[in-house]
Amino acid sequence: MTEHIEVFPDRAAMLERAFALTLEALQAAIDTNGRATIALAGGSTPKPLYEKLATVNLPWEKLFVFWGDERYVPIDDPNSNAGMAKAAWLDRVEIPESNIFITPTDGNDPTADADRFDATVREFFQLEGDALPVFDVVLLGMGDDGHTASLFPHTDALDVSDRCATLGEKSGEPRLTLTFPVIKSAANIMLTIAGANKQNALAAIFAETCDDRQYPSRRLRSASGELWWLLDADAAIDSAQIADA
Ligand code: 6PG
Repeated sequence: MTEHIEVFPDRAAMLERAFALTLEALQAAIDTNGRATIALAGGSTPKPLYEKLATVNLPWEKLFVFWGDERYVPIDDPNSNAGMAKAAWLDRVEIPESNIFITPTDGNDPTADADRFDATVREFFQLEGDALPVFDVVLLGMGDDGHTASLFPHTDALDVSDRCATLGEKSGEPRLTLTFPVIKSAANIMLTIAGANKQNALAAIFAETCDDRQYPSRRLRSASGELWWLLDADAAIDSAQIADA
């Protein structure tokens, strides 16, 4: 694993770098493998990144889109991660609907829908046994509590290792999420983290020792591919506080 920590003067510059890195990784995957797979982040930070991706001219039929996590709401709910990314990007480019794997939240049964999410990932990557998928790109954010995707502190989802996707929860609210083994097996993991409210969690995550159940994003530091921490100046911590992974 190679860990990259890059700090930018502001959110726009951070997202510009995330855009360039994402585009480079997707194009490289298409050139090498004939296709590219990406799992998208939710939350508010990545929306301008998705809007920029809507302006490029990729061979969209070779891109396959998943989400790293989803709130358990209908796609037309303002809190839907899929709804946000479709409006900002996917509905604005010629990507085949069959290339977009919306996380299922329409079954009125979070556990069953988590199973559907897991089965979709396994089927797409044609996984057998305990093999893991390798997404070309996994985009992530991080909450001020150190969660990433919907892997929240001290929740059971943190320890699920025999599935690609599982049921998570945020203060009792159901969430669907990729599991840590899947996220950590990606070729490129890119986090975009902005705002002073993220500093404390980042300081804990980059410290010599860290309780990774309290700050789950710490677990990303043992990922197998390229790990990119893209931070704005408000979120960044002093470089002296960064212990080697
Ligand atoms: C979600 C996200 C979540 C998000 C972080 C950061 O569904 O909310 O997947 O993990 O990335 O909470 O959110 P912001 O980018 O809005 O700070």
